[in-house]
Amino acid sequence: MTGTPRSHESAAVPALASPLRLPRGITVANRLVKAAMEEQLADTGGHPGGRFVTLYRTWDRGGAGMILTGHVMVDRFAVAQPGDVILDGSSDLTPFRAWAQAALNSSLWMQINHPGRVVQRDTGSRALAPSAVPVRVGSLSKLFATPVPMTEDDIHETIERFATTAALAEESGFAGVEIHAAHGYLLAQFLSPLVNRRDDQWGGSLRDRARLLLEVVAAVRARVSAGFGIAVKLNSADFQRGGFDLHDARQVIDWLSDGVDFVELSGGSVESLATAGHPADGRTLEREAYFLKLAGELVEHASVPLMLTGGIRRARVAQDVLTRGFSLVGVATALAQQPDAPQRWLAGQDAEVEPPCTLVRSKSLRAAAVQASVTARMHELSRDRPNRSVPPLAALVLDQCKRSRAIRRHRRAGPPSP
Ligand SMILES: Cc1cc2nc3c(=O)[nH]c(=O)nc-3n(C[C@H](O)[C@H](O)[C@H](O)COP(=O)(O)O)c2cc1C
Repeated sequence: MTGTPRSHESAAVPALASPLRLPRGITVANRLVKAAMEEQLADTGGHPGGRFVTLYRTWDRGGAGMILTGHVMVDRFAVAQPGDVILDGSSDLTPFRAWAQAALNSSLWMQINHPGRVVQRDTGSRALAPSAVPVRVGSLSKLFATPVPMTEDDIHETIERFATTAALAEESGFAGVEIHAAHGYLLAQFLSPLVNRRDDQWGGSLRDRARLLLEVVAAVRARVSAGFGIAVKLNSADFQRGGFDLHDARQVIDWLSDGVDFVELSGGSVESLATAGHPADGRTLEREAYFLKLAGELVEHASVPLMLTGGIRRARVAQDVLTRGFSLVGVATALAQQPDAPQRWLAGQDAEVEPPCTLVRSKSLRAAAVQASVTARMHELSRDRPNRSVPPLAALVLDQCKRSRAIRRHRRAGPPSP
């Protein structure tokens, strides 16, 4: 039992296997959620092919109550990586319908995202951003495109794009959408006082920095039916000095609580790799459930279900997250490594799922290599080869080769001028 009061659920600590009814009416079969992982498997038009169906069937059989897709781009002129899925008014919905049907047991939600300034130069994408503040990641900074401050029209168009993608996700058969406002992408850039230097209604006070996110949520709500799920992924903190912090997160959760089913809490960005357990501001994170202590401070006052993601690899730690008052537990890396981990955890097994391991000393190189290895693992699962993995450094080299080929294809195919 926790001493933490939770206003949206009864005081008893739920078991991992207990169902959860969300505010907009969806019931999730258990508390384990496969968190979003960018698949990098779409065709040049941004469509998800048959490999998505194989991959998501595997996760669906694995026992998580809810599955979040990797981020899906709302704007084909602003794409984070060349293999990212894009869903907009010109998409063919047939492959999206097939993807949605891959979930027979779990609730499948689409994560929707706009990368803002986090686009690499070589993709040819537009780096729209709140202000002309470039991404700073040491010698790698030059890889990123120069950010262009958004006009009022750009902002309204972007709100509309999120709403259109959400409506198309519903039409395709997804149960809900998660709006990505974490990890330093566009909506998180607006929230951050370090990146958002605007002095109009979209910048300045926290209320104004949060305006874009809140308007996106309202626009999505206005375009989907009442029972369609809506969630937001938010950083508990950016882990950068002077950035979006815990107090900001508490206030934003409060503003969101009327309009969403749950808020997923994570942390970090491309400039501060807290997402992978390496924050830039020197703070020490927990070895497992990285954000549990910090984000745990947000639970007490939240009147909306909260989900915690980051560093969860064992059943006992997942249960601790619920004990601290969270309603859902997000697991990413461990479910690429072992897609049926939820089933095992729900059956009472507690063996740790080992993350990919490398002895590389540089934290950023290590994080990139591990991420590449997880991506490679998803690619093996999507080919129905559940026993194959690629070690991190080899995965990183392969990833760079594949990326160069994908960039060449992507540039040959477009994107068309806006
Ligand atoms: C290969 C890979 C791709 C990811 N893609 C996304 C994404 O598309 N959207 C997102 O919100 N987070 C993404 N993440 C972050 C995860 O959702 C999660 O927040 C993070 O990995 C920490 O959880 P974990 O320790 O369980 O992996 C990705 C992580 C990995 C490893």
